[in-house]
Amino acid sequence: MTFNSAAEKYTYVNQMFARIAHRYDLMNRVMTVGQDRRWRRLLVRQANLPPGGRLLDIATGTGDIAFEALRQHPDLAQVVGADFTLPMMLVGRQRQQEQPHTAGRLSWSAADTLHLPFPDATFDAVASGFLMRNVVSVPQALAEQRRVCKPGGRVLVLEIPRPADTLFGRLFRFYFHQIVPRLGGLISGQPDAYAYLPASAEAFLRPEELQTVMEQVGLKEVRYTMLMFGTVALHVGVR
Ligand SMILES: C[S@@+](CC[C@H](N)C(=O)[O-])C[C@H]1O[C@@H](n2cnc3c(N)ncnc32)[C@H](O)[C@@H]1O
Repeated sequence: MTFNSAAEKYTYVNQMFARIAHRYDLMNRVMTVGQDRRWRRLLVRQANLPPGGRLLDIATGTGDIAFEALRQHPDLAQVVGADFTLPMMLVGRQRQQEQPHTAGRLSWSAADTLHLPFPDATFDAVASGFLMRNVVSVPQALAEQRRVCKPGGRVLVLEIPRPADTLFGRLFRFYFHQIVPRLGGLISGQPDAYAYLPASAEAFLRPEELQTVMEQVGLKEVRYTMLMFGTVALHVGVR
C-alpha cells in the first residue's frame, strides 16, 4: 500500500481507525493471542512513573495503555489519553464507565501527535503503542513527545518494526500478510485496514534505526527490548 502524499496517508490512517474502532480491541486480542496486554504491562512497568505522577498516552486509541497505567499505579495524579481518531476514544470512554476508579484521573484529548496541545515538560512519561508506523514524520512525533516530557522523564515507544530477514521473520511475514488481513476482514469487515498493518510494518524502521532517531531528537540512554520472538519492539529513552 503506497500513498502519494503525507496528507493522503494522514487522512487514510484517521479514517481507517474510525472504521475499525468498534472491533479494534477484539482483533488485537485474537491477532496476538492475547499477548498485546503483556506488552503494554511491560511498557508501563518501564515508564518509571513516580507517585502522583502524570502520564501522556499519545495515540491512546481505546485507552489500553492508559487503563493499564492506572491499574499498576492507582496513585497517579493524571493520565491523558490523546488521539486524532475520535471513534477510537469513544470506545475507550465506554470502557471507562466500567472502571469508575479512573474517574477524575483519566481524561481524553483530541490531539495530533505532530502538534501536541500541551506545554513543555508537562508529563513524567510519554508513551505510545503502535503509533509510529502511522505517522508522516517519526522525528517530528518523537521531538514533540520529548518536548512535553519532563527532564529525566521517559519516552516509551511500543511498535512493530520491519520484520527481520530470519527464518522466523519469514514465518511472521506469512502470518502477517496472508492470515491477518483475512482475519481482520472477518472480525472487522475491513480487510484493507489489516492489509495496511503489515504494509506499514514493512515500510517502518528497524529497531536499531528507531533507536538512532530517538537519539537524534535528543533522547538519552535509549535502549530497546524485542518481544514476541523479535516481532515487537519496546524502546525507552530519557529526556
Ligand atoms: C494501532 S492504534 C494504537 C492504539 C493504542 N495505543 C494501543 O496500544 O492499542 C494507533 C492509533 O494511533 C492514532 N494515530 C495515528 N496517527 C495519529 C496522529 N497523527 N495523531 C494522533 N493519533 C494518531 C490512531 O488514531 C489510532 O488510534
